[in-house]
Amino acid sequence: PSAAQGIAQKAKTLADLHAAISAFNAGELSDSARQAVFARGNPNADIMVIGEAPGVNEDRAGKPFIGPTGQFLDRIFASIGLTDDDLYITNVINWRPPGDRSPTPEDVALCLPFIQRHIALKKPKLIILVGGVSMGALTTLKGITKTRGQWVDVAAGEHSAPALIVYHPAYLLRRPDLKADMWRDMLSLRAKIADMKNG
Ligand code: URA
Repeated sequence: PSAAQGIAQKAKTLADLHAAISAFNAGELSDSARQAVFARGNPNADIMVIGEAPGVNEDRAGKPFIGPTGQFLDRIFASIGLTDDDLYITNVINWRPPGDRSPTPEDVALCLPFIQRHIALKKPKLIILVGGVSMGALTTLKGITKTRGQWVDVAAGEHSAPALIVYHPAYLLRRPDLKADMWRDMLSLRAKIADMKNG
């Protein structure tokens, strides 16, 4: 087991886990970042949103998805009436990668025990896997253009929850022709939430 695994297991609350990640030496990742980025939104929300990695804005603020990409993600959720109060938002990678490079498989492996523990402690009713890195870290699926829109079960520790795979908003900013797929996926999310409320 990795160092992260032991440290993650010791955390008994979200606050413990945040503190443990902030104190963790993640080598190049934590060396080059200003701070660890943990989560934002409502810790009691039913829905846990899992993105890729912090960027420059998130690194500065210590909160995920607060730059232009995050604002776009907020608008996407707002299209079906979801606000910050309905969502708990985090990333697979806890530090801004050096030079904003894409996370490597090693970065993902390093941070995986933390996001798994994060899910196990948070116990969301629904998960949104935002982008290919998030999907790749938490499922065995590959190729997001084929898998987006699918609901899959994600298990972490004792907890498991249905997870919807969606495109990353940064990708949609480059490929506005794919925004209709995101709209379809938001309708699927809205239907799932309605199902959940009806028992
Ligand atoms: N992109 C992500 O995946 N996460 C962030 O927090 C910001 C941009």
